[in-house]
Amino acid sequence: MIEDLVIPTHIGIIMDGNGRWAERRGLSRSMGHREGANTLKKICIYAEKLGVKYLSVYAFSTENFKRSKAEVDFLMKLCIEMFSNEFQEIIDHNVRVVFSGRREPLTKKVLKAMDEITEKTKNNTSLVLNICFNYGGQTELLDMTKKISSEVLKGNIQVENITLDTLSSYLYQDLPPLDFVIRTSGEQRLSNFMLYQASYAEFYFPEVLFPDFLENEFMEAIVEFNKRTRKFGGNV
Ligand code: FPP
Repeated sequence: MIEDLVIPTHIGIIMDGNGRWAERRGLSRSMGHREGANTLKKICIYAEKLGVKYLSVYAFSTENFKRSKAEVDFLMKLCIEMFSNEFQEIIDHNVRVVFSGRREPLTKKVLKAMDEITEKTKNNTSLVLNICFNYGGQTELLDMTKKISSEVLKGNIQVENITLDTLSSYLYQDLPPLDFVIRTSGEQRLSNFMLYQASYAEFYFPEVLFPDFLENEFMEAIVEFNKRTRKFGGNV
């Protein structure tokens, strides 16, 4: 029974397999990313309906800049198109969109699309969709360290008063820890995704490629989460 399931508060998805999905159909990789973007919209709305509070998705890593110029350009164009036109249904579901990642070297056009959707949804109160874009977990920790050091040097923070809550508040977004990380396509790696936030997350690696990770697969993931016993370092 759905109502008996524990719904994770914060779910992370590494949306892997768009390229393979397209190649298996004789389509261009771009078509795979476009289909992946459609899946993201559906999953986001479904997660909101189920009562998930935070959904973090890995849309573009700092390392993804190493891909061909054509693929990077397409992903940037897709991002502008999604945030400017395609996210209305998500907005209608009262979803708040935030971003994690470095702004440098994103173009003005991309940043504008990101800033507009952030502003447009800032008062929404249901699910928070955290889009990791130009994101790297190690870089996030580096940026956090620099920001805190600078505050220490200015005398605004005393070293002895630094707590785990301080660290969290200097990450790109101050979100609760990840409960559950899903990576589609059968790959079993974290690939620099939310290293700090994933400390005690449960992991799940379904074989399905991201464009096919639809409502049924999402529900299967939730059922799998409910089979896990979380220990947080104890021996319960
Ligand atoms: C990994 O699959 C996927 C990406 C690098 C991009 C993820 C982007 C989306 C799902 C679109 C959502 C977009 C926005 C703007 C929110 P892959 O290309 O590595 O697949 P492969 O491993 O099969 O080659």
